[in-house]
Amino acid sequence: MQEINNLREKAKLELEKVSSTKELYDLKTTFVGKNGLVTGLLRGMKDIPAEQRAEFGKVVNQLKEEIASYFDEKEKVLVEKETFEKFEKERVDITLPGVKQKSGSLHPLNIVKNQILEAFCGMGFEIFEGPEIDSDYYCFQALNIPKDHPARDMQDTFYFSENVLLRPHTSPGQVRTMEKKAPPIKILSPGRVYRADDDASHSPMFHQIEGLVVDKGVSLCDLKGLLDEFVRIIFNSETKTRFRPSYFPFTEPSVEVDVTCCKCHGKGCSLCKGTGWIEILGAGVVNKKVLEMSGIDSEVYSGLAFGLGIERITMIKYGISDIRTLFENNIKFLSQFNRRK
Ligand code: DAH
Repeated sequence: MQEINNLREKAKLELEKVSSTKELYDLKTTFVGKNGLVTGLLRGMKDIPAEQRAEFGKVVNQLKEEIASYFDEKEKVLVEKETFEKFEKERVDITLPGVKQKSGSLHPLNIVKNQILEAFCGMGFEIFEGPEIDSDYYCFQALNIPKDHPARDMQDTFYFSENVLLRPHTSPGQVRTMEKKAPPIKILSPGRVYRADDDASHSPMFHQIEGLVVDKGVSLCDLKGLLDEFVRIIFNSETKTRFRPSYFPFTEPSVEVDVTCCKCHGKGCSLCKGTGWIEILGAGVVNKKVLEMSGIDSEVYSGLAFGLGIERITMIKYGISDIRTLFENNIKFLSQFNRRK
């Protein structure tokens, strides 16, 4: 009995000193665990006279329950204390200003590209993307630019071999579409193009969007109507277009399309070099030879085509004077175009 009482007192004493649940659980194992001190008492059972054994077992079990209840009580107190401390530590001052997350945004070229694609897709155009590495046939010959044609000088580009090159324009997309698809055709072909050019208004890599419509009775009037609508969407409803006669081997007639200057609205300023007009793209009625080479009967069908530079339109829209700023990835510059479209 002495030993039992000692153990009870010892447990109480030790429990006083405990200040965390971790210590508590360790101590609990020491006393009432499988190999603990209280269980140890039962092991001494064999030395107790047989008639006292039952009584001894009862008392030890009582002790066990008693000690366990001390532990439970202490546990409650400690858990409460620790929970409180944890909450205190995690306390957040919800009145403090939040930490601002910097969000990314689309590159201005992608913003304008998406706007252009959207404008034309709204008019029923589909998108077809051609390869960036293409053959001399698709880049030139099938567009009525034979070998040694002087028009090739306008587009001197990067060759891998005599017949394989980085495309200098997206016009091969016209040919590839006409070879695959029978009219009616109404496609846009966007993508990167490459030319051996590098200054404030030319980059060796830039982006174009090609447009092609082939159907019965397609004419220059349709081209005018289409592009008028396009500039109204991309610039604004006051913007007017002007067709100037030009030359491209793959269109006949060919035109260069100007819009009224978006800065001075036609009065003349530095952006439009005093003319009131800014050139935005090349276009024309598809040359019959080009239709025929791609297997389309030019007696039945006619087409219109246009090709525009995304950099050029972006520069005009936002008043950017040096094309290279579009490729420098300067965050200060790019974050001015904070739109997600
Ligand atoms: N491919 C021409 C260029 O890169 C642009 C062009 C002009 C495309 C007239 C056309 C077009 O489809 O009809 O300079």
